[in-house]
Amino acid sequence: MAINKLILGDCLEVLKTLENETVDLIYIDPPFFSNRTYEVIWGDKGEIRSFEDRFSGGIDHYIGWLKDRIQEMYRILKPTGSIFVHCDYHANAEIKVFVLNKIFGSNNFRNEITWKRNFTKKGSQFKMSKLAQNTDTIFYYVKNDKAYFSTPRINGSMEELLLRYDKEDEDSRRFKSEPIELPRMMARENLIYEYKNYTPKYGWMMVREKLEEIDKQGKLYFTKNGKPRRKSFLDEYGGSEADNIWLDITPVGQNQSEIIGYPTQKPEALLERIIKMASNENDVILDCFVGGGTTITVADKLNRNWIGIDQSVQAVKVTEFRLNKQQNLFSKPFTVQLHKYDYDTLRYKDAFEFETWIVGQFGGLANSKQRGDLGLDGKTRENQPIQVKRSDGIGRNVIDNFFSAVQRFDKASFEKNKSEQKPIGFIIAFSFGKGAIQEVARLKNQENVIIKLVTVEDIVPIAKKPTLQVEMQDLGKIKELRQISFVATGQSEAGIEFFAWDFAYNEPNFVPEILLDKTGKQTYLFKAGEHKIAVKVVDNEGLENIEVIKLKVNGEVKRN
Ligand SMILES: C[S@@+](CC[C@H](N)C(=O)[O-])C[C@H]1O[C@@H](n2cnc3c(N)ncnc32)[C@H](O)[C@@H]1O
Repeated sequence: MAINKLILGDCLEVLKTLENETVDLIYIDPPFFSNRTYEVIWGDKGEIRSFEDRFSGGIDHYIGWLKDRIQEMYRILKPTGSIFVHCDYHANAEIKVFVLNKIFGSNNFRNEITWKRNFTKKGSQFKMSKLAQNTDTIFYYVKNDKAYFSTPRINGSMEELLLRYDKEDEDSRRFKSEPIELPRMMARENLIYEYKNYTPKYGWMMVREKLEEIDKQGKLYFTKNGKPRRKSFLDEYGGSEADNIWLDITPVGQNQSEIIGYPTQKPEALLERIIKMASNENDVILDCFVGGGTTITVADKLNRNWIGIDQSVQAVKVTEFRLNKQQNLFSKPFTVQLHKYDYDTLRYKDAFEFETWIVGQFGGLANSKQRGDLGLDGKTRENQPIQVKRSDGIGRNVIDNFFSAVQRFDKASFEKNKSEQKPIGFIIAFSFGKGAIQEVARLKNQENVIIKLVTVEDIVPIAKKPTLQVEMQDLGKIKELRQISFVATGQSEAGIEFFAWDFAYNEPNFVPEILLDKTGKQTYLFKAGEHKIAVKVVDNEGLENIEVIKLKVNGEVKRN
């Protein structure tokens, strides 16, 4: 079953649907209590609703809002799990005292991490009445003292390391040298002994056996003045232990490749440190204020399973596109759960992925292997078989085959369900033909057997995806390049959210160069040759459509 999922919705509601003690690590970066307008990042319906909800009644209201959600997080966290709550000075005191200490207990507090997120000073046009505020707080709590922890190590830049490791031995291994003799203040009688014709006045820093071992490893050397020193090799340097002040992780700057374009996006390095520090490979990581998806993008790279939740359609779609960008043949699949689904996307999904997903949506348990028993794809929690058909107009033969498969699958359960007048099984499909419906009625009347036919639309709401049209205009040559303008027009009952553009489309991987285009207008310069451009439109429900434009640019521009 695909465990990695991206879910649209208020995290309070979504968290309530997750099972107890199933998550290993939670990182959240909820909207801060700052009242700054940039707190509204995405500006879509979902986020605005949440914004109003949070700020309708001052700090007490905000703390209550957060507490309800963190209470649910506590429930789904495994007993060995950890939580990291990212906040800032606006409410960090209240969050610690009134939320985290109350829910997790002050004995389960591990650290208050201070992250220096900014190195700028206040501009001189402002009259300075206080110090520049350049840090965020990340509270680290655990559920109990068995929570996994591995000390992060900080490497420093290569330039700094080369300055510190300033010597090279005969094998060209870079090293620094450290004293191995005790200073006068720490003199130890029992450590004063002779080794290789040298007797330190106040003693060695170690016993003879240890010194011999170091020497054998080639790590003891004598300077030109005959002073013994210990070699420490750069290639063995594992970094220095991090403490709770993090100064070495810079914010997502304008020119970094990870930038999505909103002020509160967190750097991947920050999440990498947290995830490595408090989880192992294959653990489940949750971020229920997922934003642009930094946490789960990093979790995915580090071979963790993940769940991402956000109230905003834009956040979910941006995260989906960001994940698609980094997925490769070896990546685990993931699902995106919106409020509505469009028929085409579901109908043409990979068959096994679809079966797994729809059985899960139905509240059942899907088979873990692709070839199900007797063509059955899962079962309900009461052990009634479920079969999924990813097609329309299911016919009579499907019902008959299912009827005999169910009996062979578990005769005792079949008989029991039959005698209790419960459904002996469920068939899920896009639609059922007349023959299937009549056969189900016949089985009920003549054999006293109930088979339930369920359409996909009975399980999940289906909506029409947006329409999309793209017009283009050749604006002529600029040196060797051709300038072309594009205008995309989308229509949807739900309203259009944004457009995204991939100007070097390599089917089927949509890797947008322009992600959050609200206007649908782009101008681009092309070299001579053939080009494939893909445009996506995303509506307010997160449903999307794509148009692919094939262009031949030579003396003229031709659209195929
Ligand atoms: C500060 S951003 C997270 C940024 C993220 N850490 C990143 O690096 O991209 C906060 C996110 O919380 C979302 N949000 C706000 N209220 C929410 C709620 N009740 N449930 C789920 N998401 C919510 C917002 O839509 C926004 O995307």
